[in-house]
Amino acid sequence: MSADVYPVPAAVKKKALIDEATYKTWYKQSIDDPEGFWMKHGQRIDWFKPYTKVKNTSFTGKVSIKWYEDGVTNVAYNCVDRHLERRGDQVAIIWEGDNPYDDKKITYRELYEHVCRLANVLKRRGVKKGDRVTIYMPMIPEAAYAMLACARIGAIHSIVFGGFSPDALADRIVDCQSHFVITADEGLRGGRVIPLKKNVDLAIEEAEREGVSVDTVLVVQRTAGKIDWYSERDVWYHDAVKAEKADCPPARMKAEDPLFILYTSGSTGKPKGVLHTTGGYLVYASMTHQYVFDCQDGDIYWCSADVGWVTGHSYIVYGPLANGATTLMFEGVPSYPDASRFWQVVDKHQVTIFYTAPTAIRALMGAGVSYVNRTSRKSLRLLGSVGEPINPEAWEWYHNVVGEKKCPIVDTWWQTETGGIMITPLPGATKLKPGSATRPFFGIQPQLVDNEGQVHTETVAEGNLCIIDSWPGQMRTVFGDHERFIQTYFSNYKGKYFTGDGCKRDADGYYWITGRVDDVINVSGHRMGTAEVESALVSHDAVAEAAVVGYPHDIKGQGIYCYVTLMSGYDADDALRKELVQHVRREIGPIASPDKIQFAPGLPKTRSGKIMRRILRKIAEDDYSSLGDTSTLADPSVVNDLIENRQNKH
Ligand code: WTA
Repeated sequence: MSADVYPVPAAVKKKALIDEATYKTWYKQSIDDPEGFWMKHGQRIDWFKPYTKVKNTSFTGKVSIKWYEDGVTNVAYNCVDRHLERRGDQVAIIWEGDNPYDDKKITYRELYEHVCRLANVLKRRGVKKGDRVTIYMPMIPEAAYAMLACARIGAIHSIVFGGFSPDALADRIVDCQSHFVITADEGLRGGRVIPLKKNVDLAIEEAEREGVSVDTVLVVQRTAGKIDWYSERDVWYHDAVKAEKADCPPARMKAEDPLFILYTSGSTGKPKGVLHTTGGYLVYASMTHQYVFDCQDGDIYWCSADVGWVTGHSYIVYGPLANGATTLMFEGVPSYPDASRFWQVVDKHQVTIFYTAPTAIRALMGAGVSYVNRTSRKSLRLLGSVGEPINPEAWEWYHNVVGEKKCPIVDTWWQTETGGIMITPLPGATKLKPGSATRPFFGIQPQLVDNEGQVHTETVAEGNLCIIDSWPGQMRTVFGDHERFIQTYFSNYKGKYFTGDGCKRDADGYYWITGRVDDVINVSGHRMGTAEVESALVSHDAVAEAAVVGYPHDIKGQGIYCYVTLMSGYDADDALRKELVQHVRREIGPIASPDKIQFAPGLPKTRSGKIMRRILRKIAEDDYSSLGDTSTLADPSVVNDLIENRQNKH
């Protein structure tokens, strides 16, 4: 833990929405009287019918989470319509293409028209309230229109990141039984073409084999590349929207009606459909967006995530647009055409607030300061980080080189499940410590708990991070499997939401996330279950058994290390290694590419047959001196072979 402390700069304090005294008062209110606090702050969004009930939540028994349950509203209305009077001509979305010469600006009035036309297309083609619509798109404005069009008519969107394979897409289509897909002909990233429509075609074939048929595929023309066309189900987006009216009344949605499903990895089994609902989610996403980023009129706000991840949902689309902000959407990658791109975009659009992931910062740091220094970055006033712990070296570089020591950094800890930011500095209130997410946001009560469930009550402590009471942005269930929701999050520690993260608390009460304590790894800020990679590996004919662990990786944060036991008759050679890497990419997608594959004649198991991952993790970390007790292994000799053949030799 770094001992450096960075006070709030005087200039920041003067203009910020929340100062230290306000943070303290509001935080205390939010814990002493959650009903009163959220009664007041729920009014930050517009309601067609005001709520009278605020909080109705329980973390025990069947676990039930309801916020503002008798209120009626609409998310698209809040993100678009309500701004028209004052901000109709203000830019809502700045789009920056993969190619630096490609960009456009969409005002709130234009956004309204796009969203309404698309909502009418969905309705005309039979999409009803509660139906699931799968969105598999590049980072183009139509992705935001698609989300908002679903919200407008009460359809539930399920966005699948464009880097996922046809198989992964098929799984998600089948799990939520989605009959409508919105995609593009091809995506464009770093000058490379991604065959989105082709992947959709393959996924639909696969989904059909599993009994789910897709009736309509709406295709945005992005590259005009060659694609296959099935006229009975494929529809060009530009043709369909042209034929529709630019008005569409927003559906009256109850606060607890679902807004979206987003699949995320856990420590076991296939990805879970995290379900977020309407009212509480929007209150929480917009409130965190406003106060964490201190977002005010005139700001140009840029979050470099992809809408395929929760960060894109809450902090590119819903939070900023609910607040009437100008949000920048970037199609490309930080290294294209060169490692200056982020900062060129900052200068070009005069970005004031910039939010990115540690993996991008580390990669750009590796490219050298000259790429940063050739740009001005004068417009920047605040920087943010999300997705994984930020190491102090990367923090310092971000602060000193990118922000030239004048921009605070908000290191925001949260999860797909939490809907919005949970532990974070507020720029005008919080002294910063590099590597610490600092303090809880309003209404959030973290607790550190040991493996036996004992709560650490002393200030300085370390343990498993739990949250002991609900907040409005919390996920409500796993789509179609409430039992799994209870099991995954509320069974380890009775009556508490368990995050899966380990955490330290220092003498100032600051929180330091130490990383996952379960079998989830974080590769370049992408969350991955080791079980998913394992099941992809064992689906290959050559593989008898596989165990996957994370290991420290300079740029990615964690890399993917696979131990593979082969079926007899296969050669343990580099050709097979390559083949297995390709296989995993086909099964899950390029983001799951194994970094190291070690062929192992046997895996370390207890006598009851449980794989001892602790040992595998140590070997992958090249730290085989501290393997701990191996005497309980069924066959202790496998450990020597694993060490000898490790792939991380110095
Ligand atoms: C990790 C991303 C440390 C953590 C919003 C969490 C972080 C998982 C931070 C959720 C941070 C996210 N510091 N760790 N600032 N932000 N994490 O669901 O392990 O993709 O549980 O949500 O990322 O990843 P997810």
